[in-house]
Amino acid sequence: MSDPLNQEDLLAFDPKADDFMNHPHEHYRRLRSTAPVFLDPRHDIYFVTSYDLVAEVMRDPKRFSSRVDRAAMREGGLPQAALDIRAQGFPPALTMSNNDEPSHDMYKDLVAPFFTPRNLGAFEPVVEQQVASLIERLPDDQPFDFVAAFSVPLPIHVIGHALGMTEYGNDLLKRWSDAFADEIGLLTSEERAVEIAQLTLDCHRAMVSLCDARRDDPREDIISRLAAAEITDPQHGETRALDNSELVSLLTQLLVAGNETTTNTLSGGMRRLASDPTLLTRLRQKPEDVPRFVEELLRLESPVQGQFRKATEDTTLGGEDIPAGALLHVRLASANRDEAYFGTDNNTLNLDGRQQPPHKSFGMGMHFCVGAMLSRLELKTAFTHLAEAVESAELAVPEEELEYHTHFHLRGLEALPVRLRMR
Ligand code: HEM
Repeated sequence: MSDPLNQEDLLAFDPKADDFMNHPHEHYRRLRSTAPVFLDPRHDIYFVTSYDLVAEVMRDPKRFSSRVDRAAMREGGLPQAALDIRAQGFPPALTMSNNDEPSHDMYKDLVAPFFTPRNLGAFEPVVEQQVASLIERLPDDQPFDFVAAFSVPLPIHVIGHALGMTEYGNDLLKRWSDAFADEIGLLTSEERAVEIAQLTLDCHRAMVSLCDARRDDPREDIISRLAAAEITDPQHGETRALDNSELVSLLTQLLVAGNETTTNTLSGGMRRLASDPTLLTRLRQKPEDVPRFVEELLRLESPVQGQFRKATEDTTLGGEDIPAGALLHVRLASANRDEAYFGTDNNTLNLDGRQQPPHKSFGMGMHFCVGAMLSRLELKTAFTHLAEAVESAELAVPEEELEYHTHFHLRGLEALPVRLRMR
C-alpha cells in the first residue's frame, strides 16, 4: 500500500545533503511508494526510483540522452581559477558515457574487446597475484582500515596495469581517479574544484605522453592499442586515428569507472562480513556461493547510485509530464530494492531461495558497463581468497560511526576499521 503523499517527507530526500549517502534507502522507499518520478524543485531534477521506470529511461536513449556535462554542473559553477586551468587542457570530447548513438557505438566498439571473457584471461594472474599479496599484508588481530589496505589498492593496481600506466604508481593514479570522481559528484568546495582542474590537466598530459611513447614502442596494454587505433567517422566516412581529446576521454573513463566502483563494492562486502559472522564461514565452506554473494553485494551496495539523462523531447514518464531539456536522475540503487521485484526482504542479502531478478548496478541498454566482467572477476577473486584466509572479522568501531563519502551519485565508505583474525 502507498504512503500518503507528503511533500515535507519527499523534500527530506536531498541527495545533495552532506550525509545523504549514510542512509539513502528509506528515502528511496518513500519515493518509490509515493512519487516514483519526483521533480525536486530545489535542484530542478526529476528523480526516477522504480525498477520499471528506471528501465524505461535507460532503454530509450533517443528520448533520454546521455549528453549531460556533469563536470559543469557543480553547485555555483566552476571557479574562474579552475576554468583557467581547464582552458590549458584538451577540449572535451563526447565519447562513451556522456555520448549518444551513433558515435557512442564507434568508441565502445574500440574499448569493449579489451574486456571480453577471452581477454579477461590475461587479467586473471594480475588479479590473483594482487589479491594474494594484499591478503598477506593484512594485519592479524589488530584494528586497521580495510578501505586503505585492500579496497583501494586492488582495483587501482588492476586498471593501472590494464591501461599500461603502472609507472605512475598506485597513489598518483588514485589521486587522479579521485579527482575525476569528485568532479562528477557535483559537491566539491571551490578549493577542491581548482585542485581537481590541475590534477585533471596533469593526468591528461601524462596520458597523451604515454600514447606518444607507445606509438613507437607498443606494449600489451590498452594505451598502446588505443594510440594505434583507427576509427571511421559515422557521419563523414573518413578513417583516422583518435585525437588527443578522444584518447584522454576514453582513458579517463576507464581509469575512474574501473576503480572507485569496485573499491566501494569491496568495502561494502567486508562491512557485511564483519557484521555477520555466519557469512564468512558460509563463503569458506561453500565457495560456490561467492558469485551470488557478489551479485547481491552489487545490488544492495549499488556503488553507482544513479545516472543523469536529459529529455530530448516533451514526453511523459510514469504519468508525469517531462519537458524537453529536463534533467533526470535514474536511481539504480532504488530500482535494485524495488519491492515489486525484490519482495518484502528487498533489503536483505539473499543467498538462498529464488534467483533474484537482474539488478541494475551496471546499468542497462547501450551504456551497459564495459567493465562488468572485470569487476566481477576482482570481486569474486577477492572474496573467495578472503574467506579462505580470514578466520573471523569484526568491526573495530560501532557500526553507526561508519561514514560514506559525500557525493551526488557514487556511494562508498570513507573508511572501514576492522579487526581480522587470520587463519
Ligand atoms: C562494481 C563495479 C562497477 C560498477 C557498479 C559500474 C557501474 C556502471 C554503470 C551503472 C554504468 C552505466 C552508466 C550509464 O548508463 O550512464 C557503467 C558504464 C561504464 N563502465 Fe562501469 N561499473 C563498474 C566497473 C567498471 C570497470 C571495472 C570498468 C573498466 C574497466 C568500467 C567502465 C565503464 C565504462 C567505460 C562505462 C561507459 C559505457 C558506455 O557508456 O557505453 N566500469 N558502469
